[in-house]
This record gives sequence, C-alpha cells and structure tokens, in this order.
Amino acid sequence: MKFFIDTANLQQIKEAQDLGILDGVTTNPSLMAKEGISGYDNVMKHYKAICEIVDGDVSAEVIATDYDGMIKEGEALADLHEQIVVKVPMIKDGVKAIKYFSDKGIRTNCTLIFSSGQALLAAKAGATYVSPFIGRLDDISTDGLRLIEDIRIIFDNYAYDTQILAASVRHTMHIINCAEIGANVMTGPLSAILGLLKHPLTDSGLAQFLADHAKSNK
Ligand code: G3P
Repeated sequence: MKFFIDTANLQQIKEAQDLGILDGVTTNPSLMAKEGISGYDNVMKHYKAICEIVDGDVSAEVIATDYDGMIKEGEALADLHEQIVVKVPMIKDGVKAIKYFSDKGIRTNCTLIFSSGQALLAAKAGATYVSPFIGRLDDISTDGLRLIEDIRIIFDNYAYDTQILAASVRHTMHIINCAEIGANVMTGPLSAILGLLKHPLTDSGLAQFLADHAKSNK
C-alpha cells in the first residue's frame, strides 16, 4: 500500500519524506487555507515546493465547479509539474472533466467519494485515483472501511486500473485496516503514520538490550 500524507505543511511533508516511506501528498483547499496559502500565484508556488520535496504524486484540487473552469485550472496544474495529479470533485461536470483529462493523459484523483456508485462512475471516466473519505463517513455513524471493501470488490470484478486512495484517514488503525482490505493508497496525517512505530514491548525490549549491553561493557 502506498503512503500519502494529507497536508500542505512543508515541514510535515519533509519529515515524512525523510523517513523514507512517503509515496505522495494529497492537499485540498481547506488544507491550503490552514497553511495560510492564498492567491493564485502563491498556491501554484506552494504546489511546486511540495513537488520538490517528494518523489511521488501530488494531488492539487481545482476550485472551479463548471466543466470549462475545471479544464482550464486542471491543465494549468498539470503543466506546473509532472508529479501533479489533478483533483476533481465527484459532481456531474467533474466526471466529464475526468474523462477529458484521462483522454489527454492527465492523471486525476476524484475526490469527495462517499458511495461505491460514485467510485464506479469515476473509474468508468478513467480516474487514476478515487478518494473515498472514510473518516467523514465514520463521523456520521456509517462504516467508512466498509466502503473501501465494496469498492475493492467492484474494481476487482472488472479489473479497473483506478486506484483506491483511502482518504480522510484519521488514525493508525485506519491505516492498518486499509492495508488489510487492499486499498492501493492511504492518505492521512503524519501522526497516524508515526503511530505505526509504537509498541510498548519494543520500548521495554530496547531498554533491556541497552541495559544488558552497558552492564557487560563496563
Ligand atoms: O484527504 C481528504 C481529507 O483531507 C479529508 O480529511 O479529516 O478533513 O475528513 P478530513
């Protein structure tokens, strides 16, 4: 499973990249706003800076919600850097835009997926990734992981190339569960990724090894 980090924070992206396990970055307008990035030129500059830190795919979201606007913005984003994947919302014009981008060889990430039907539609339009938001489904007492399972079955039935990018991952167990189910990618916060490191027996075992080594090397 590929690991993407879901942030526009350059420090956190660097930290994940330095760990050697980062496969890409996802952003959205809320995450850009959180970092105080505004204005077209600054936004484009920030995407470029992200691409220079990571080796993998960087999802950059269009703001327009009409077909022509999404095409214009998406083409500019794709031209910015070869690592950019154009993030398009799951709306009617978005599906048309994904088909257009796919025919032109521009990679896409269909975002705001909350049902398997939406994922199927995005795959048929040729999306590179679909992003089911599992945490937001959990928030409304609906099983987000179950959606990943349902999409996995559908994509496997028809051998769709579209990758399942489990998004809105909130904690470490989400990552493990996504890997068990067979999500192709997960995107989440750095804290959830670092949570995979933790086990008290690792800490106590290491402390014991070091203590024994110190005793016999006095
Ligand atoms: O990748 C989608 C993500 O940014 C949404 O996460 O935590 O706002 O639901 P969250």
